[in-house]
Amino acid sequence: MIFTPEQIEWLASAEAAQPWLKKLTQAPPDNGALLGELTRLRQHFSVDQAQALVTLARLRQRARKKFPIHAHRLFFTSKTLQQASPAAVARWTAQRYRHAPWVADMGCGMGGDALAIASLGSQVLAIDRDPLALALVKANASALGQSHIHPLRANITHPGWKIPIAWADPGRRTATHRVFHPETLQPPLSTLLQVQRTIAPHLGIKLMPGLHHRHIPPGIEVEWISLEHELKECVFWFGDLAEREGRRATVLPAGKSLWSEGHKAPLNPPGHFLYEPDPAVIRAGAVGDLANQLQLWQIDREIAYLCGDHLVITPFARTWRILEHHPFSLKRLNQRLRGMQAEVIAVKKRGSPIDPEAFRKKLHRSRKGRPMVVVLTRVNNRPWMLICEPLP
Ligand SMILES: C[S@@+](CC[C@H](N)C(=O)[O-])C[C@H]1O[C@@H](n2cnc3c(N)ncnc32)[C@H](O)[C@@H]1O
Repeated sequence: MIFTPEQIEWLASAEAAQPWLKKLTQAPPDNGALLGELTRLRQHFSVDQAQALVTLARLRQRARKKFPIHAHRLFFTSKTLQQASPAAVARWTAQRYRHAPWVADMGCGMGGDALAIASLGSQVLAIDRDPLALALVKANASALGQSHIHPLRANITHPGWKIPIAWADPGRRTATHRVFHPETLQPPLSTLLQVQRTIAPHLGIKLMPGLHHRHIPPGIEVEWISLEHELKECVFWFGDLAEREGRRATVLPAGKSLWSEGHKAPLNPPGHFLYEPDPAVIRAGAVGDLANQLQLWQIDREIAYLCGDHLVITPFARTWRILEHHPFSLKRLNQRLRGMQAEVIAVKKRGSPIDPEAFRKKLHRSRKGRPMVVVLTRVNNRPWMLICEPLP
């Protein structure tokens, strides 16, 4: 179901709806129970209202991963939930604005970022051209008791406000697909850069993490952010919001950053431990810097795996203990897995053309055996396999 702004207002304010919404949010009906639930709701509400209650309850359940604390009280549509920044990431980027009296959030959607910025004390002009987004951000501010959000219906392409500190999270989806070029964003990157030059010198722009480096303007800070080792976004920071010029990787929830300083990792054969750098570290070009920081080395010049002889706990990489490694051979691998009574829990690859899932089916299995991870990669440009053990 597609909500209207009026339905959002009704869901947020109608007194009769609140006890039902609370109950449904706690246990939204599954498909089997849907008809019965709608029939029960129809005794009190119109068809549209009953459907709106169930739809929102279901969306709140879906939203728990992105908004672990507030999902049960927020208002979404399917699209605005999909577009919203995860709360942990929004909290991180919002910190840059903590001393700003006013911030313009240019394209606020349901308010994922606006709410995080306002929660640190700034007044936020929450701008969107979509009246539904504005109804949502208003309902969400009220649900969280947040009085610092000021919704404004406007088009970013013709800005009529004059707030020098701003945030922009342009839409990355058309009606049918995800976009990959910054000029197909809504609004396009060039429009936002124009706003930065003319109105908001202190600007943060959230972009797709796979953005080609050729689109990065000179002299700015670029931050790639991952959450639980999943790359989430790339942010351009301008003016006083930038800590310094350069590229950095930030890993959440640890809240740690690593700058790319141009270090190069040495090249050596595999050691006792395999380190898989976080995707933010790779995108920021900081693999060599991580190697330098932790005394690690690469096993192939082209591949972003690092090795070391000592276990170092780091938020910037996932780590496995290497039990054995050999030139790639399926026959040899199966012999060794049998000998080690291994149960392969995952096949990982980097620099190998093999499909890991199909390959896993060809591997020897000891039921309830010792859990192992097989890594297919290259060592000095030769196909190689590492038999690894997950660390506790
Ligand atoms: C990715 S969403 C923002 C999500 C938001 N940061 C959050 O965390 O909930 C982008 C928003 O920009 C709005 N938008 C796109 N182009 C716009 C324009 N030219 N003027 C105003 N708003 C625009 C869309 O309506 C959409 O709500």
